[in-house]
Amino acid sequence: DKGGHKHFMAKEIAEQPHVIAEAIRHYLPVEEDAVRLPGGGVDFSGVERLTMVACGTAYYACVTAKYWFEQIARLPVEVDIASEFRYREPPIPGKTLALFVSQSGETADTLAALRYCQEKADKILSVVNVSESSIARESDLALPIFAGPEIGVASTKAFTCQLTVLLALALKAACDRGHLSAEGMAEYATAIRGLPNVLSSALEQNDAIRLAAQKVSEARDVLFLGRGLMFPLALEGALKLKEISYIHAEAYASGELKHGPIALIDKNMPVVVLTPKDALFDKSVSNMQEVLARKGKVLMISDQNGIDEAGDDVWCAIRMPRVKEALTPILYAIPAQLLAYHTAVAKGTDVDQPRNLAKSVTVE
Ligand code: F6R
Repeated sequence: DKGGHKHFMAKEIAEQPHVIAEAIRHYLPVEEDAVRLPGGGVDFSGVERLTMVACGTAYYACVTAKYWFEQIARLPVEVDIASEFRYREPPIPGKTLALFVSQSGETADTLAALRYCQEKADKILSVVNVSESSIARESDLALPIFAGPEIGVASTKAFTCQLTVLLALALKAACDRGHLSAEGMAEYATAIRGLPNVLSSALEQNDAIRLAAQKVSEARDVLFLGRGLMFPLALEGALKLKEISYIHAEAYASGELKHGPIALIDKNMPVVVLTPKDALFDKSVSNMQEVLARKGKVLMISDQNGIDEAGDDVWCAIRMPRVKEALTPILYAIPAQLLAYHTAVAKGTDVDQPRNLAKSVTVE
């Protein structure tokens, strides 16, 4: 049942305020300003290293979480793609916590990577949507994301729910390790509890994004740029666009622009710049200016302050609400998903069942 939407993907994008609220209710119950984990939970105080492994969109959720665990919890993090990790035979030092992220819980490479870590890592955690899955069963502690069934092949609500759970976990780690005061934690809890409303107002940009997508649908290639927490989201935005619209899309950390990809910029190249007015805004804008100077078509996704300050010469600007900086990837996922969706619809591709792709990749 598509609930009145044209595609499952549209329905699942629209459901995000609701499913995220569900995840928040479980991990940050209102009666306490602390993270609550299922089962025996996990204590990060003695953990020396976190290894996160996944594929595709789940991998980009891990890359995002690396920034959180490092910055908020001061925990060293390694992130890897499951198909590389499993055959590299990486050493797993003592006091390592291994974390596997998978919507289906059945991805063959991720499961194999998990099995490689059994007996080597101190503890195996998973973040899954399907609680009865192999990955959930074979880990010491499975953290459900409460996204509900995801039918569209392109992952949307599972991604933002994964991010929400991973952020909660990073906050737990920060508290356990003494890097976050009760006051700081309460501030995060309040901001996170405001996310469902913030995501709803992001969804109101649907029409503006649909108009932008009309133009993007004519492109052959699209570049996504972001810095800091917006870099992994740029990767996810590019993946989403290519998998359902079949337009070639690539993402770069903005600072890498002048190390190669700037050679691609011309008047035919749409460049999606993800840049909330955060600590890295000025750096990101100076990269955006380099694109504009070469007549690149900039689609700027920012907040009102950011657009007022730097949005004058852009091709098109999409306005997001303002949130606490750590929460921006969860919010900016919405325009990235809507842009891919509307571009695919404009091109007339099969949005829910893109060619050559399967929802669950149970063979390597
Ligand atoms: C992209 C997408 C895939 C999956 C990947 C991992 O939209 O859905 O990249 O994220 O195949 O799948 P799970 O999360 O089931 O392990």
